[in-house]
Amino acid sequence: MNKLLVIQSSLFAGEGQSSKMAEAYAKRWSERFPNGEVIHRDLASDPIDHLSAETFQGFGLAPEERNATQQKAADLSDALIAELRAADEIVIALPMYNFSAPSTFKAWMDHVARVGITFKYTDTGAVGLLEDRPVTVFAARGGVYRGTPNDTQSPLVKTFLGFIGLQSVRFVYAEGLALGPESAEKSLGDAHQQIQALTVGEVA
Ligand SMILES: Cc1cc2nc3c(=O)[nH]c(=O)nc-3n(C[C@H](O)[C@H](O)[C@H](O)COP(=O)(O)O)c2cc1C
Repeated sequence: MNKLLVIQSSLFAGEGQSSKMAEAYAKRWSERFPNGEVIHRDLASDPIDHLSAETFQGFGLAPEERNATQQKAADLSDALIAELRAADEIVIALPMYNFSAPSTFKAWMDHVARVGITFKYTDTGAVGLLEDRPVTVFAARGGVYRGTPNDTQSPLVKTFLGFIGLQSVRFVYAEGLALGPESAEKSLGDAHQQIQALTVGEVA
């Protein structure tokens, strides 16, 4: 069965603008794949713990060598990676909080980057081990940063996804959401129009 994984991290759950963009795309995806399954990973309502030395070191141990805390973190990490592997397509709803991705999303990144599982090091550099698949990122921001040096969020997310093998990434932006109602309305209108025009099932 075709699967779409939606990863969201807005503090405001379904009311977040990034979540609303992701949902609008998921609706289109479900129309294209009526028998498909949409899986939601809500990092705000179901947050992932920060890594600690203990849990990070546990990732490198064999299961029989891990303590209970390490095993719990490794189980979660394995489940998050399995979720990525099982998805034919991935959507990331990405609010901008304090110039970066939400800390809950960073905790997800920290649990998904696993040497020997999602990436490996070679003589010529790091190689991602996940099979590529389409990823669409819906970025919601109060200000306007796209294409400027202050947009440190997009390169972070793109570099991270590429690092684990996900190269086919596109971004849809709703910016200027804090710059007054007119700016917000225009930006959201443009973004939702763009969503209706996106290819579904591939990143064109
Ligand atoms: C805690 C917090 C920090 C924020 N920091 C920024 C920021 O650094 N830059 C920015 O452009 N907007 C910032 N915003 C505005 C959000 O990017 C904007 O509200 C956006 O809609 C968030 O996505 P969401 O609606 O999906 O939660 C911040 C909002 C919150 C709640």
